[in-house]
Amino acid sequence: MTRLAAGVICLLISFCGIAVGGRDTVGEILRLPSEASRFFRPDKLNNVNSGDASTGTRWAILLAGSNGYWNYRHQADVCHAYQLLRKGGLKEENIIVFMYDDIAYNTENPRPGVIINNPQGEDVYKGVPKDYTGKDVTVGNFFAAILGNKTALTGGSGKVVDSGPNDHIFIYYTDHGGPGVLGMPTNPYLYADDLIDVLKKKHASGTYKSLVFYLEACESGSIFEGLLPKDINIYATTASNAEESSWGTYCPGEYPSPPPEYETCLGDLYSINWMEDSDVHNLRTESLHQQYELVKRKTSNENSAYGSHVMQYGDVGLSKNHLFLYMGTDPANENYTFVEENSLSSRSKAVNQRDADLVHFWHKYRKAPEGSSRKAEAQKQFVEAISHRMHIDHSVKLIGKLLLGIEKATEVLNAIRPAGQPLVDDWVCLKTMVRTFETHCGSISQYGMKHMRSLANLCNAGIGKEQMAEASAQACVSFPSGPWSSLHKGFSA
Ligand SMILES: *[C@@H]1O[C@H](CO)[C@@H](O)[C@H](O)[C@H]1NC(C)=O
Ligand SMILES: *[C@@H]1O[C@H](CO)[C@@H](O)[C@H](O)[C@H]1NC(C)=O
Repeated sequence: MTRLAAGVICLLISFCGIAVGGRDTVGEILRLPSEASRFFRPDKLNNVNSGDASTGTRWAILLAGSNGYWNYRHQADVCHAYQLLRKGGLKEENIIVFMYDDIAYNTENPRPGVIINNPQGEDVYKGVPKDYTGKDVTVGNFFAAILGNKTALTGGSGKVVDSGPNDHIFIYYTDHGGPGVLGMPTNPYLYADDLIDVLKKKHASGTYKSLVFYLEACESGSIFEGLLPKDINIYATTASNAEESSWGTYCPGEYPSPPPEYETCLGDLYSINWMEDSDVHNLRTESLHQQYELVKRKTSNENSAYGSHVMQYGDVGLSKNHLFLYMGTDPANENYTFVEENSLSSRSKAVNQRDADLVHFWHKYRKAPEGSSRKAEAQKQFVEAISHRMHIDHSVKLIGKLLLGIEKATEVLNAIRPAGQPLVDDWVCLKTMVRTFETHCGSISQYGMKHMRSLANLCNAGIGKEQMAEASAQACVSFPSGPWSSLHKGFSA
């Protein structure tokens, strides 16, 4: 218990130290006189740079991979993206939304029925279709929606990307992740190799002209690094490279912070950066590449420790296309042309995706009245989350030592392959490692996804299933009970 208390204290110090950062401004807008604005958007330019937009349909899949009030921001991001695309002119029938839908009417939500994605933001929840919610937010349904395969669906509205060869598809996914893996509010989680297979299958079916994938998650670069082909008309950008966290923003105690009644982060840094850019510009005049460069600079937070490296993968040539081709454009922004800015204001300090739950529990605890059941509950949640973290961290380390010896363990577990190489060569091995770990040590869960690289490295070092099972059984004689360690969440199907 004393070790636990020490852990709680050092975690408190590490995130209570979040200081006030820079200002947030909605810059990069140039109001053009009508003549100039005509110059920037002659129809010819649209056709050359935007492909044949007139003959294709725009499709979108929006997915928030988490649930729980402490993950408010992912569903807020998705709702915001939905509103943006609708303002851009996409039809509801062409936008497929995956969200658990436990936020708007959550008892913790200070504004029942309302979700905001910016401290001053308006409600983004209104009108968002409930295509796939709750237990229907699954990897299987996500893949079926991409492939347009209705018979593969279980539950949900039945909406899929029923696209043709001239169509353009935009996929936006926001959640927790880890090396080679993305979260889902249901199990199993999503593995990178399965996603890449589905994208290749979609390409082989000849049912799109181009596809753009925006991905926010920790280690999101690892989903595409060394895996996404360059010749299947897919362009992807990710919130972070293959080996770092991504960041939540508009978090309590940060500047700008959410309204005082919110004890949770409202958005994610990369996501907010692309959406708040798309919100205000004429997207006929802004290319994917321009947005990538802008979001990259803003998300790096001036290369501070509170930022990440936005990456691009796949067919980078597609990034000369205008955003209009995928997101449409809000007619109200027709005179707001994107211009490059050399002096970019930096965003405030952000919160590591993986600590955002602790931030929520901490602020809940701090603000609850002394002696109230709410205070006791928040404290319990906080301690449970921390003890789960310590259990997972400790177990992975111990398994490594049992398998490789004390000295070699650190080296192997922490090894990072050079850029351009996938996380692991044998994905079946990685999946087996994860299942074996979970059998003996309990669910890896959201937080534990950070250890995927260590498990992948065990495969790369030639460790087999039996060895892993033996070491896991030895390392995990017991595991803490409580919601974080239950086998209801994680990879085990
Ligand atoms: C659609 O999904 C079903 C069920 O999983 C599968 O049997 C079928 O082959 C799929 N169809 C296509 C065209 O991939
Ligand atoms: C854009 O500018 C033109 C010319 O000044 C004007 O006619 C038009 O109404 C403006 N569009 C919007 C949406 O404000």
